[in-house]
Amino acid sequence: MTTTTGTTGLSGAVGSAHTRVEGLAKVTGAARYAGEIPFAELAHGWLVLSTVARGRIRSVAAGPVLEMPGVLTVLHHGNAPRVEGDYMGPLGPPDPVLQLFQHDRVPYVGWPVALVVAETSEQAREAAEALTVEYDTEPHDVAFSAGRPGMRTPEGSAAGKGDLEAQLAASAVVVEAEYTTPEEHHSPMEPHGATAHWDGGRLEVVDSNQGSRFVADELAKLFSLDADAVRVRSEHIGGAFGSKGTRVHAVGAVMAATVLHRPVRVVMTRRQMFTLTGYRSPTAQRVRLGADPDGRLRVLDHQADCLTSTVYEFVERSADYGRPLYDADAHHSVNRVVPLDVPTPTYMRAPGEAPGSFALECAVDELAEKCGVDPIALRVRNEPVVGPLSGLPFSSRNLLACFEEGARRFGWADRDPRPGIRRDGRWLLGTGTAAATFPMLSAPSTAVVTAEADGTFTVRIAASDVGTGARTALTQVAADALEVAPGRIRMRIADSSFGPAILAGGSMGTRSWAWAIITAAGELRERLALGGAVPPEGITVRSDTSAAVGALAQAKKERYTFGSQFAEVAVDVSTGEVRVRRMLGIFAAGRIVNPLTARSQFIGGMTWGLSMALHEEATRDQASGGHVGADLAGYHFAANADVPHIEADWVDDPDPDDPVGIKGIGEIGIVGAAAAIANAVWHATGARQRHLPIRPDRVL
Ligand code: MOS
Repeated sequence: MTTTTGTTGLSGAVGSAHTRVEGLAKVTGAARYAGEIPFAELAHGWLVLSTVARGRIRSVAAGPVLEMPGVLTVLHHGNAPRVEGDYMGPLGPPDPVLQLFQHDRVPYVGWPVALVVAETSEQAREAAEALTVEYDTEPHDVAFSAGRPGMRTPEGSAAGKGDLEAQLAASAVVVEAEYTTPEEHHSPMEPHGATAHWDGGRLEVVDSNQGSRFVADELAKLFSLDADAVRVRSEHIGGAFGSKGTRVHAVGAVMAATVLHRPVRVVMTRRQMFTLTGYRSPTAQRVRLGADPDGRLRVLDHQADCLTSTVYEFVERSADYGRPLYDADAHHSVNRVVPLDVPTPTYMRAPGEAPGSFALECAVDELAEKCGVDPIALRVRNEPVVGPLSGLPFSSRNLLACFEEGARRFGWADRDPRPGIRRDGRWLLGTGTAAATFPMLSAPSTAVVTAEADGTFTVRIAASDVGTGARTALTQVAADALEVAPGRIRMRIADSSFGPAILAGGSMGTRSWAWAIITAAGELRERLALGGAVPPEGITVRSDTSAAVGALAQAKKERYTFGSQFAEVAVDVSTGEVRVRRMLGIFAAGRIVNPLTARSQFIGGMTWGLSMALHEEATRDQASGGHVGADLAGYHFAANADVPHIEADWVDDPDPDDPVGIKGIGEIGIVGAAAAIANAVWHATGARQRHLPIRPDRVL
């Protein structure tokens, strides 16, 4: 569906399908990724990670390794350059892991303890594997479970209204259930890699990240440099999903380049990514729902436990999920966290909402069953008029429109609600649904737009395209704002020297960057309308949306995207294997800039939801404190043969407060997808699946 709202649109680029502007460069190999860009005199660093879960480094036997072919240096806590740790970074205080090699303490398996640098990557690897590091070990604890000792409630992580016990007592129907989700990993295709070199007094870094300006600011603070003495670029990125903020490979590359006075590249291995780039915490969640016989909610109570490391607190806020979604007389939610001897978890696609929606949307399905009410009808009955906790109006919602359209296209009306009665040979068949929601945010950004003398336009913005198609979407936005064909726009991105811009995260990149671009483009058009020839150096306008975005934040509203998820599954009664046969997602997620890449984005999220439902699970060995099978052989994920026909579409839902009508689509696709599948497995078999992944042994 296309929309006609918004202040731009004369060239008609926004809303029409465009292939990626950098697509040809990518498929021909002309696009260079951070680990591929050639540098003269390049040296290669290889990280060495701790093999113990807790203790101190007793010794690093660098001597023998320095005799090995090509080895240039071994950096460790005894000799590494000092860095700053006491600062406020762009996303808050830094995770202490970024203060690389500053002390001898080891807080988890996989903590970086050394960087071996050599002439070639192979020499560095061989030497790194030969490096002997001795430890004094201490007992460790990596055992996560609901409500375990040490679990605490961080400031600001609880919200609620109403009397829980009184409303529970008044509820005719009560569902109380516990759900768990395992540790999950981002595993982007392109590993984290960075090359650092000094150009006079200026630090230049090519990195694979979600926000070059954010990484530049962080490196400037770590190494006590002026902000404009650091330049970070990241033109092409092969996936990120929350894992590509500032990571230790970049810090190590800068340290080694500083010591060796030559360019140094550090690329992580797939296995190293399992401990150095964050992950989604396992969760243990308890949901209590109380309702009248017709399904109207009296009680929504959601408690979600997660873990963090002992060095930094990151909370997977799963219990936040239901706050804007369903009304209830007593509405309470709390996130709790326990520090363990494990790496720090981080943002991973739909942090909080992905596991939170699994628990709550499954519980809602259980309530529908108990009430004998259709799951969609039950959601209609509990649709709030204003924010259930805030009392604020929604900027727009359209959740019911998503269910209406989804139900029609999926064929929901014909569904027999009874479980365990449909057979196709040895397969039991079932269908399920779930709602989805994700916060809609925007952040200040700057853009620089130049009218060139040859009639083309150059846009510079420190946006990053992590594989989403953002660069193409921004080209379309710029084309409409400048009223020219997209082919006349040169979109330059991912260079910190272009000025401050939000990183690609929180589903707010394209919305925030587009705002900055049309602001600059609008002013440029006014300048051009005054007439006169464009001088050889062009005419340049710079925008800053700080004031406009700040004003929007002052206008208090509930701002979210919404969606409905549908799945059909087949369950093999003899093996317990679950096959997803089809999925449908209908989203209300603002104006869709590029239907081609947007559909891919939604389908990508839904595919990950399938993978989360059936496959993904990182297993931690209690004895060693490390992973079992930390690679893409041991960590299962959905491959092509697991992924059936997936359809994604959207309803008309332009954001009235955004100049282009954009909301943000990066994360909503995964939300609710695993719940729809789990609910379909119940419909097929009659057995509830409250623990992910839904492995055959759990089905049988
Ligand atoms: Mo994304 S998890 O907001 O980087």
